[in-house]
Amino acid sequence: MIAVDLLVLHAGQLLTCASPHGPKRKAEMLDTGLIEDGAVAILDGKIVEAGPSSQLLPKYSPAARLDAAGKVVCPGFVDPHTHVVYAGNRVNEFELRIQGASYMEIMAAGGGIVSSARAVQAASLAQLVAETQPRLDAMLRLGTTTVEIKTGYGLNVESELKLLQAIEQLAGSHACTLVPTFLGAHAIPAEYKADPEQYVRLVVEEMLPRAAAWYAQSSFKSAGIPFCCDVFCELNAFSLNQSRRILQAAQSLGLAVKIHADEFTPLGGVTLAVESHALSADHLDVTTPAERALLANSDTVGVLLPAVNFNLGSAHFADARALLDAGCAVALSTDINPGSAPCPSMPLVMAIAARYQHMLPAEALNASTINAAYAIGMAGKVGSIETGKQADLLILNIGDYRQLSYQFGDNLVQTVIKNGVVRA
Ligand code: NIG
Ligand code: FE
Repeated sequence: MIAVDLLVLHAGQLLTCASPHGPKRKAEMLDTGLIEDGAVAILDGKIVEAGPSSQLLPKYSPAARLDAAGKVVCPGFVDPHTHVVYAGNRVNEFELRIQGASYMEIMAAGGGIVSSARAVQAASLAQLVAETQPRLDAMLRLGTTTVEIKTGYGLNVESELKLLQAIEQLAGSHACTLVPTFLGAHAIPAEYKADPEQYVRLVVEEMLPRAAAWYAQSSFKSAGIPFCCDVFCELNAFSLNQSRRILQAAQSLGLAVKIHADEFTPLGGVTLAVESHALSADHLDVTTPAERALLANSDTVGVLLPAVNFNLGSAHFADARALLDAGCAVALSTDINPGSAPCPSMPLVMAIAARYQHMLPAEALNASTINAAYAIGMAGKVGSIETGKQADLLILNIGDYRQLSYQFGDNLVQTVIKNGVVRA
């Protein structure tokens, strides 16, 4: 008998979501790696083996057992695109939008991202950490065990670095695995409106080298967690050319890259992402068929953020079906942020993706676990229940995994196991 710390057993459906050779595409998206009456053996926070209970029970001698009692067990969700570190809120803009103002109108009038930037610039590091903590707690309760977090509400050297420090402090204190992304190019600050090129130079010449130096000394680097650079490629934000220069500068400093592309305006961001071997291209609300085909033939993951469309009251969603059918690797994310998606819930995102994007429950689950892990360069560590990965798993209060997309509004997560630790 092999000694382990924990044996989770009798999962009615154990969904491994395993895909060791790359993100899932096409028919693979329908394969959840379902094992009936499944079990997972865990040692030192890592998965030793997953398989049928009948095979694992005679093989392992666990210090503790957890009977899943016929419920669904799946990987902890990976949220691969968030802006969860911020200060204050934008509930005033929410009311303006209810009364008919559009997100882009509010942004053009000096609200939106730059108004959150004013709040972040005024906030202390301790305040940013304290305000973010309960949001991460909510995400963990809702089953998210890995969270990518972008900067982008600093918009000056000092405040962008403050956001990176906040992410690092939270990573040290919070149970979730956090993955940092530099998004200095999130909006043109008011003081650069007359000369956006000057801000692009600040990002390229000052912010990026400082961010890269921060990462080199950070706990993320020593833990083998990657560092990305993202850019908001959009009208009134960063042009395709500016986005290219920023991502190239990031790559020359050794960062991986990703891009906000085609949220409102198709500027060619997907082509740039594919040419740059970006980990992901995110939003894709107005992506053309030609760029869908390009994405399908690349390793870049398409990250869809339907809580944004829902929150903006839009009936238009990214064409997930066309992306999936073309063979794109698709992931889902909340995009949690104070403006376009104040939403911590991956299950709600799955529910929206089913109804408005025609994603089947199996596709939504793979998109929220293994493909999301690939989208942030973390698939070697998280996103599936496979030998050697972090023991991040959920016991759901349902017997059929399809209920995860079908039911909504309640929290179906009964138990979160994070790095092998059972959380109350
Ligand atoms: O992904 N699109 C740019 N960034 C965020 C919105 C952030 C905000 O509104 O504060 C997004 O939707
Ligand atoms: Fe975003």
